[in-house]
Amino acid sequence: MLDANRGRLWGRPDGRGLFAYPAQSNFSGVQHPLSWVELAHRHGYDVLLDAAAYAPTNRLDLRVVQPEFVCLSWYKLFGYPTGVGALLARRDALARLRRPWFAGRTIRAVSVQGDWHRSMDDESAFEDGTLNFLSIPDVEFGLRWLDAIDVDLVHTRVGLLTGWLLDRLTTLRHRTGRPLVQVYGPATGADRGGTVTFNLRHPDGSLVDERLVAREAAAAGFSLRTGCFCNPGAGEGAFGISPDSLRRRLLARIDTIDEYLGALRLPTGGAVRVSFGLASNATDAERFLAFVEATYLNRGATADSPLPPRLRC
Ligand SMILES: Cc1ncc(COP(=O)(O)O)c(C=O)c1O
Repeated sequence: MLDANRGRLWGRPDGRGLFAYPAQSNFSGVQHPLSWVELAHRHGYDVLLDAAAYAPTNRLDLRVVQPEFVCLSWYKLFGYPTGVGALLARRDALARLRRPWFAGRTIRAVSVQGDWHRSMDDESAFEDGTLNFLSIPDVEFGLRWLDAIDVDLVHTRVGLLTGWLLDRLTTLRHRTGRPLVQVYGPATGADRGGTVTFNLRHPDGSLVDERLVAREAAAAGFSLRTGCFCNPGAGEGAFGISPDSLRRRLLARIDTIDEYLGALRLPTGGAVRVSFGLASNATDAERFLAFVEATYLNRGATADSPLPPRLRC
C-alpha cells in the first residue's frame, strides 16, 4: 500500500510484490504521479501501470517511466467505444511470471494422461485462445493517425476544454446560493485529465438522481456515462462510505445495489461523468453547459416518473 503523503510503501517486507495503479483515475480524472513507479521499485516492487485512461490524451514515454507492465486500451486512443487493448511487459518481468494453468495456444506440448504440459517461452504463454487478428492491424493505422495529429496537441486542447468546463460548472449557483454542481476529484485543470465527474444538486441541496440526468441528457443528445464507472473503491471514497458503515452482517442480507444504497441511506450510488477526448470541441462543452444550466438551475426536487432500478455497479 502506498502512503503518498509519507512517500512510503507498505506490503510484504520479505519479497517482491506487485504495485498496480492507474496513471489517471477513470472515476475522478486525477493523475497520480508517474514517479510512484520509481518509488515502488526502490521498495522492491514490480509495477503495473494502468494507462487506459491516461494514454489517450497524454504522452507516456517508456524510456523515462519504466514499469514492468503497462496496460492500455488502444481503442480509447482513437475515440472508439470498444476494441482491442494490450498488456505491455518487460521481457525479464514476463519471464518471472508462473502460470498455474494453461489454455489453448499457450503451450508447446501437453499430455492429458501424463498430467504434464510445457508453456510457450514467450508472451504467447499468456495469450489465451485466438487473438483478435482482424482488429489488431487497426492499431497501426490508428497510431499513425494519432501521430499525425500529435498527442501533445490533443493534451493541450483537452486540458483547455476540461479547465473551462470545471470553471463554469463550479461557479453555477441556485437562487438559494447553493452550488448546483459537486465535482469529485480535482476542481481545477491541474494534475488531472479530461474526465469530469460530478453530481447535480437541487436548490435545497438534495441530490439529483444520476439516472434522471442520464435520461434527460440522452433526450438532449448527450451521451454521458453515469453510475460508479466500474470503480467502486473511488465511488466509496467520493461518497464518504467508511469501513465502519459497512457491517458484514448487513451486507450479507443485501442482494442488489439499490438495497445496498438504501441500507447505507445514500441518496445515490453514482455520479455523472463527462469525458473529453480528441474528438471533443468547444461547441460540445458550451452546449453541455447550456443544457445543465437550462435544465437544472433553480429546479426543485419533483416527483419524477419512476426511474429504472440500478442493475449493475
Ligand atoms: C483506468 C482504466 N483502467 C481500465 C479500464 C478498462 O478498460 P477496458 O474496458 O478496455 O478493459 C478503463 C476503462 O474505462 C480505465 O479508464
